[in-house]
Amino acid sequence: MVKPVRKAVLPVAGMGTRFLPATKAVPKEMLPVVDKPVVQYAVEEAMKAGIEQFIFVTGRGKHIIEDHFDHAYELEALLRERGKTEALNGLLEDLPVTGSVSFTRQQRPLGLGHAVWSARHLVGDEPFAVLLPDDLMIGEPSCMAQMIEAYHRVGGGVIVAAEEKPLEDVSRYGVITPGVVRGDAIEVKSVIEKPKPEAAPSRLCVIGRYILQPEIFAELDKHETGAGGEIQLTDAMARLIGRMPFHGVKTNCARFDCGDKVGFLQANVAVGLTRPDIAPSLRKIIDQFTRS
Ligand code: G1P
Repeated sequence: MVKPVRKAVLPVAGMGTRFLPATKAVPKEMLPVVDKPVVQYAVEEAMKAGIEQFIFVTGRGKHIIEDHFDHAYELEALLRERGKTEALNGLLEDLPVTGSVSFTRQQRPLGLGHAVWSARHLVGDEPFAVLLPDDLMIGEPSCMAQMIEAYHRVGGGVIVAAEEKPLEDVSRYGVITPGVVRGDAIEVKSVIEKPKPEAAPSRLCVIGRYILQPEIFAELDKHETGAGGEIQLTDAMARLIGRMPFHGVKTNCARFDCGDKVGFLQANVAVGLTRPDIAPSLRKIIDQFTRS
């Protein structure tokens, strides 16, 4: 029997230098897409996939992420007093249940592999999901729900979300050598972090969603550095190939790279257009800009 995926690790320690000066005092994960911080989308996506525990890997200056996933008593009291029931209920519904959220610090910015390794004691000996909040995934069922469904179908192991990218962009991603195709799941024969386009095994890239097995921690324990001198999650996953099944899943979700200025603006427009409360006015504004 394949063990269920109950825990998710959310690495949120990055400094967000691409978004300065906005991210000088505000974590990049707290920048809003329409009216919700980027990180909340990842938590909601994981909740929809049945994840029960959320482990944030934070760093200095990220404490407002903790506050965001807690009660705000003064605000709640004020909304109650003023009869703003809808806003109040919205806040309360979004809160993860008490005890389901935990925080640990990465302490030093040594790479994604190191961030995930920092959560090893909180994850323990069970499979877990990793969601990189910068990658905002919009779709139904949620991206992680589609991955967990595939995880059970292919018999466990490691699952990554995968997307075809133009050849000139592959050097920004982990890139897969694809093997046997099983529906939406593609066997991963090897994976390489940020190859030059001429060295890329394919255009099939890993995007920021993973289901991993606890065996990954023994690989990350080695603290071997790879691309960019960082401890890469991709390298640790590559070393598990042959020891357990490893698949890439092409989901039907749209991905927005909120770590990039244009991607972030695109996410705001795309999510805004799905929102009945603002879509009509937003559409008018877009029309004005595109006409001139
Ligand atoms: C990370 C991973 C990379 C993956 C990407 C997806 O890179 O290292 O393998 O393809 O996320 O967004 P980063 O964007 O942190 O450089």
